[in-house]
Amino acid sequence: MLHRNNAAMHKIAECLAYSSLGGSGEMKDATRLAVVTGGTGGIGRAICLRLAREGHKVVATCHPTEEQAALEWSTEARKNGFEIGVIAGDVSSAEESEAMMNRLEERFGKVDVLVNCAGITRDSMLKRMTAEMWDAVIETNLSSVFYVTKPIWNGMLERGYGRVINISSLNGQRGQFGQANYSAAKAGMHGFTMALAQEGAPKGVTVNTVSPGYVKTAMTDAIREDIREGIIAGVPMKRMALPEEIASAVAFLAADDQAYVTGANIPVNGGLFMH
Ligand code: CAA
Repeated sequence: MLHRNNAAMHKIAECLAYSSLGGSGEMKDATRLAVVTGGTGGIGRAICLRLAREGHKVVATCHPTEEQAALEWSTEARKNGFEIGVIAGDVSSAEESEAMMNRLEERFGKVDVLVNCAGITRDSMLKRMTAEMWDAVIETNLSSVFYVTKPIWNGMLERGYGRVINISSLNGQRGQFGQANYSAAKAGMHGFTMALAQEGAPKGVTVNTVSPGYVKTAMTDAIREDIREGIIAGVPMKRMALPEEIASAVAFLAADDQAYVTGANIPVNGGLFMH
């Protein structure tokens, strides 16, 4: 056991040495298979493209109703030199998630990097929030993380390598007026991260959270304009994040030579919330 750990440390040290010397890439990451749920959404697309640029083989998952649009995007990405597979499945369903991940592994291979990025909002003050609004957000944003990670988790442990990255939110860290459902789900995601990080650590599997602030996507475009302007005014950087800025944090956590950060929650919020 100790011997195996020493061997793993030796490999990481060698890898770091080569990269700091700007080496030829002899020790560079093997091609890893990265899967991004919600991979065709605003943040998801940027993550897929960034991981592909880093040399990963990438598969985006999308909701079955978005499959056609996702395939068209993938064709477009291919023209620009990015090979991104697409697979459809409803991550708010345990059965569909398991079937999707099994199909994915049969078609593309074993998953090395999983980015849980699928998410929705159903904003409302609690006094008007229905059980459907609550359930939709908890199932899609939180239960999905369990449903999608579970089918591939044992494989990561057995192979002794894995990166699980959960895309949470600033609003899971500090709460947000009108988002009791979303804030609860996003806070829950990081609880999942911290628990699973402890289970993965002895086997070389890291589990981390990235908590974006307000990012320029269709989700934030849907916020009422006056409210959105008020939010931006409150951000110390006076702007929303670009999806690529979230992807950059994900790429850091997904790298082979980043093997010692685990159970962390990296905020990418322009200074809107610090603790
Ligand atoms: N704190 C305290 N009071 C607030 C408040 C706040 N943040 N926001 C609104 N209020 C008050 C209003 O001043 C208003 O008070 P009065 O009745 O005294 O005038 C009252 O609450 C009702 O406010 P609204 O008119 O906004 O109520 P509404 O029912 O029309 O809309 C809402 C409610 C849909 C929640 C709307 O306020 C809203 O969209 N808020 C923004 C929620 C938000 O930030 N969502 C983030 C989406 S993006 C995302 O989630 C990505 C991510 O991870 C960051």
